[in-house]
Amino acid sequence: MKILSIVGARPNFMKIKPIYEEFKNRKIDQILVHTGQHYDENMNRVFFEDLELPKPDVFLGIGSGTHGVQTGAMMSRIEEVLKEEKPDLTVVVGDVNSTLAGAISSIKMQIPVAHVESGYRSFDMRMPEEINRILVDRISQFLFAPTEDAINNLLSEGADKKKIFFVGNVMVETLLLNIQKSKKSSILDNLSVNTGNYGLMTVHRAENTAKPEKLIGLFGSLKKIDTKIIVPLHPRTKKVLEDIGYIQKLGKNIKIIEPLGYLDFLCLLSNSKFIMTDSGGIQEEALMLDVPCITLRENTERIVTLENGANILVGTDPIKLTSALDEIPKREKSYPKPPLWDGKVSKRIVDAIIGHPDLFAL
Ligand code: UD1
Repeated sequence: MKILSIVGARPNFMKIKPIYEEFKNRKIDQILVHTGQHYDENMNRVFFEDLELPKPDVFLGIGSGTHGVQTGAMMSRIEEVLKEEKPDLTVVVGDVNSTLAGAISSIKMQIPVAHVESGYRSFDMRMPEEINRILVDRISQFLFAPTEDAINNLLSEGADKKKIFFVGNVMVETLLLNIQKSKKSSILDNLSVNTGNYGLMTVHRAENTAKPEKLIGLFGSLKKIDTKIIVPLHPRTKKVLEDIGYIQKLGKNIKIIEPLGYLDFLCLLSNSKFIMTDSGGIQEEALMLDVPCITLRENTERIVTLENGANILVGTDPIKLTSALDEIPKREKSYPKPPLWDGKVSKRIVDAIIGHPDLFAL
C-alpha cells in the first residue's frame, strides 16, 4: 500500500505527525506533500523542527493568493504529483485550502481520500473552512471523526455509516506527546512573565481581520484590563493593524510578538491565565490544558469545548468580551475531556485504513 499525505498550513502539521509516524512504524510506503500554503519561517519550518517531521518529499511552493488562485494552483500541481506517485490513498487533514485542493485532485483521479477531522460544522457558510469541510467530507471514502457531534453532522448530511470512524482528536495525540518537551521552552523568561500572570490572544480569521473596526473594538476593550496580554500576531492581522496605524495605539498591557513555534506556544498556553482566540485548534488545546478559553467568533465547530465548560463564545462584541474576562476567576479550573482524545488516535486511523480495503473502491 502507498499513502500520499498532503499538508500546507500551520494547523496541518501537528495533525499529520502522529499519522505519519504510525504509517512508518507499520512499514507502509508513504509520500509527504507540502503545498507551501504557509511559507514564513515561523509559520512553517519551525513546526517541522519542533515536531520532528521529516522534510516533505515534495514541496509545491504555492504560497498566498485569493481562494481561487491559491486552491487552483495547488490542484494543478497536486494532480502532477498524483500522476507520478500513483498512491492507493490520499490523506488530508483539517479544513484549510490545501485540504480541499488535495481531496478534489485526488478523487478526480479516482484515488480514494481519507479525511482526518471529519464532520466538524460551524453551520456558517461565510467561513472558507466550513465550505472546505463540507466539500471534503462529501468526496472522501474514510471519514475520521474527532467527536460524537461530528458523527451526527455527517449522518444528518447522509454520509454512509460504514465510511465513518470515531477515532478521536489527532491533534490531542501530538499535544500529549509534546507537553513535557514544551516545559523546556524559555519563552516565559524571554517574555518576562510567570505562570498564571498573563493572558494570551491569537486573532487571524478573515471575519475578524476584514473589518479593521472589529480589531479596533477588540484591542480597545483590552485596554481596560490590567493583565498583560501576549499576542503572537499572524502576518495578515499585523498588516491590517499597521495599515490603519493602530499598532502604536495598542494598550500598554499588550505585547505583540512574532508567531510562535509549536513548543513555545504550547508552553505559553499551558501557563497562561486565559486565552482569547479565533483559531479552531487552540479551543481544543485550551480544553486539554484546562486553560479558560474565550472564543472571538460568533460560532464554533468545536461544540464539545462549549459543552465541557472550557470555552465561551463572544464574537468581537466588546461588552461580551469584557464580561467574559470578568468571569475568568469564577470559571472551573479543570474540564472533562472528550472520549478518545488520547494518545491512540493515529493507531485507530491506520487500523481502519488497513482493515477496510472495501472502502478503497469508489
Ligand atoms: C489558513 C487557513 C485557516 C487556518 C490558518 C492558520 C484557509 C482557508 N485558512 O488561514 O483555516 O486557521 O491558515 O494560520 O486555508 N501569510 C504570510 N506568510 C505565510 C502565510 C500567510 O505572510 O506563511 C499571509 C499572506 O498575506 C496571506 C495571508 O497571510 O495572504 C493569509 O494566508 P492563507 O494561507 O491564505 O490563510 P490563513 O489566513 O493563514
